[in-house]
Amino acid sequence: MIILAIETSCDETAIAIVKSNKLGTKCTVLSHTVLSQIDIHKEYGGVFPMMAKREHARVIVTLLEKCLRDAGLYKELKIKHKIPKKIISKIDKILAREENVAIELLELFEKIGTIKVDAIAVTSGPGLEPALWVGISTALALSAITDLPLYPINHMEGHIIAATLKASKDSKDGEVYTLPKLQTPALALLISGGHTEIVHIKEIGKYKIIGQTRDDAVGEAFDKVARMLGLPYPGGPEISHLASIARNRGEVIEKTNLLPRPMIYSKDLDFSFSGLKTAVLYRLQKYSQISQSTKEVIALDFENATAEVLVKKTLSAVKKTNAKEVIVGGGVSANTHIRNELARALGDIAILRVPSRDLSTDNALMIAVTAMVHLRSGAKPKKKIIANGNWHL
Ligand code: KG4
Ligand code: ZN
Repeated sequence: MIILAIETSCDETAIAIVKSNKLGTKCTVLSHTVLSQIDIHKEYGGVFPMMAKREHARVIVTLLEKCLRDAGLYKELKIKHKIPKKIISKIDKILAREENVAIELLELFEKIGTIKVDAIAVTSGPGLEPALWVGISTALALSAITDLPLYPINHMEGHIIAATLKASKDSKDGEVYTLPKLQTPALALLISGGHTEIVHIKEIGKYKIIGQTRDDAVGEAFDKVARMLGLPYPGGPEISHLASIARNRGEVIEKTNLLPRPMIYSKDLDFSFSGLKTAVLYRLQKYSQISQSTKEVIALDFENATAEVLVKKTLSAVKKTNAKEVIVGGGVSANTHIRNELARALGDIAILRVPSRDLSTDNALMIAVTAMVHLRSGAKPKKKIIANGNWHL
């Protein structure tokens, strides 16, 4: 079965096409591309939803065509395909707010007629609603042209599934991903620009949030602190780079001078990062001019603080739930120090699963594989899909 997935929840326009085995336990990647808008948002220090939406709409059909070509599914007809009027007016209605997408999509299908795909999956939340709508409308239009079943996917479940994938190379097929059986109960620590959550996983598909941030998400704190330090968006990799310089030269921060570790001793599994961000602001106000080495030390202290809190709460959650595995997902899971500290703290207590670097941040492969999991458990396709910016697991 071939699944085409679309992801536009934030500032990455991504499409992936995978071919799954009959059991839905393994898939071959036919195509997998992520177009990042970072260069556009960098100047403004964050993602503006309407700007993200416009950019998704500008590139999505070109990206679709490229992915179909990569997957060997682009077959141009000798004679132009005539799309029925009824379908054209349906597409125009679905894509009324993204007129260029409608025009480009119809042009594409005049050239190729149809696509040899079995199902379409699309991220329908959580995320920035204007951005989500571009992917959803495109998927709805694709489904209307091709009559293919359509599956809405939760972006955070995508991050969970991505972290469990085992990559291998098949000399014949290329990149192959296998979904190993998860030992349950398991936990997911979801850390991204919009989320900081601990999720209890009874089994894949049965989730319960048992801890979450009360204010900022950890990735958001990384981004805001980076901005204070004059670093570009996204701030996570920038802070991590500065912190590693200070760490490598053996910088030790005096206990009395440490940034706070918010809620580290609270009995619950919740987080708070807004106070930590403000503490950095106050720290910076003490200086009339900040040297590079001071920036590095602040980055180190900030990264240590986030890691300590994340590790402490994850460990408490493992003890409370007897979790056998801990899955780390979301963009912040790319952070090496946080990964190392989690691995060190968990030791033999629970298996730690982290995504490969390219699957840490947003992508459509995770959406395609999550759809594969839903399909194997008999999920029904949806005719109507709406963007749900706050869709909880
Ligand atoms: O999952 P993601 O790609 O998008 C959302 O769904 O939010 O996560 C993006 C977040 C950004 O806040 C970014 O600064 C953070 O992930 N991030 C990192 C690192 N790489 C990306 N944070 C800390 N360390 C990193 N190496
Ligand atoms: Zn994400």
